[in-house]
Amino acid sequence: MIKNDLYLKALRGETVERPPVWMMRQAGRYLPEFMALRDKYDFFTRCQTPELAAEITVQPIRRFPLDAAILFSDILVVPQAMGIDFKMVESVGPWLETPIRTMEQVQQIEVPNVEDTLSYVFDAIELTLLKLDNEIPLIGFAGSPWTILCYCVEGKGSKAFDIAKSFCFRNPEAAHLLLQKITDTTIAYLKRKVEKGVSAVQVFDSWGGMLSPEDYQEFSWKYINQIVEALSPLTHVVVFGKGCWFALEEMTLSKVSALGVDWTIRPEFARVLTNHTMTLQGNFDPARLNSTPETIKKMVNEMIERFGKDRYIANLGHGILPNIPLENAEAFIRAVVDWKPN
Ligand code: CP3
Repeated sequence: MIKNDLYLKALRGETVERPPVWMMRQAGRYLPEFMALRDKYDFFTRCQTPELAAEITVQPIRRFPLDAAILFSDILVVPQAMGIDFKMVESVGPWLETPIRTMEQVQQIEVPNVEDTLSYVFDAIELTLLKLDNEIPLIGFAGSPWTILCYCVEGKGSKAFDIAKSFCFRNPEAAHLLLQKITDTTIAYLKRKVEKGVSAVQVFDSWGGMLSPEDYQEFSWKYINQIVEALSPLTHVVVFGKGCWFALEEMTLSKVSALGVDWTIRPEFARVLTNHTMTLQGNFDPARLNSTPETIKKMVNEMIERFGKDRYIANLGHGILPNIPLENAEAFIRAVVDWKPN
């Protein structure tokens, strides 16, 4: 049994004394101990070495009273396992020498045996669970098929992912074949993570908000929902779609346990769109962690009052930024942990 099960209680919709809290990208560049390892090992070495991934996962847990850990890894390990050779280039980010832009290329992509190709992730889960010693739950994650396609077609990050969108609209057959291959790989990958002991899985649709509501259905939600259908009998599934407020109503009809929201939506409106029944996660503007600790505390209290303490997981509306002072990250977490009803 996990000793602090606040996060799981919130996913189950149970009454809690206070909301649980964790931060997207909590194992990251704002932590000096993360930067020390970053100086020694390149990004994918950190992901692929179970001892390093486990150590990085617990770094923020040692420092802060967080209610969940998220496994240190990346969404791009899935396309890598499919033979798509992503690199992480300093000051560029994800980089693919030969982007996927034709049907011929898509046909050559394999749905791998994840047991072999991603064994290092499963080993990292094992080591991390030993370190966590049942104190708090461990979250596993994957990128949404659409978000992975964005990087595969674009070859790198982008402001609007125009090339990825053009590919889908000009070549829908190839796009759908690629999305289905990513989906099949992701389902196998997440199922194995659950077998290895993660308590929930989160799907990151970081670029879903680039699509119109109609295109979102066709190119993103349709595939995310296959993942939700396959995983929800086995574990809690959380979907975070950045900029995807327009899809919240549809998502609420699915078998997710919770939905993540970013800071551009008012808590009250998110509650309306999700029928007042869904557990919601979010939505502090990550840039607001640049405010003073006093202001952060005040804003966190307001956020909790507005979402309500139940069916709520306090989090940022996207990943923590690299330049955030440690005391400000701590102020965010402590404000939730110390929260008391009025
Ligand atoms: O939340 C956590 O702490 C778990 C670890 C995690 C990472 N990436 C580690 C990471 C998670 C959940 C991700 C997900 C991820 N990766 C997403 C979806 C979430 C989101 O933020 O939108 C995306 C789009 C990626 C792809 C990716 N990986 C990008 C765009 C970058 C940033 C590149 C850059 O240079 O800014 C990465 C690198 C990355 N992944 C870092 C970390 C801590 C920072 C780079 C480093 O440490 O060298």
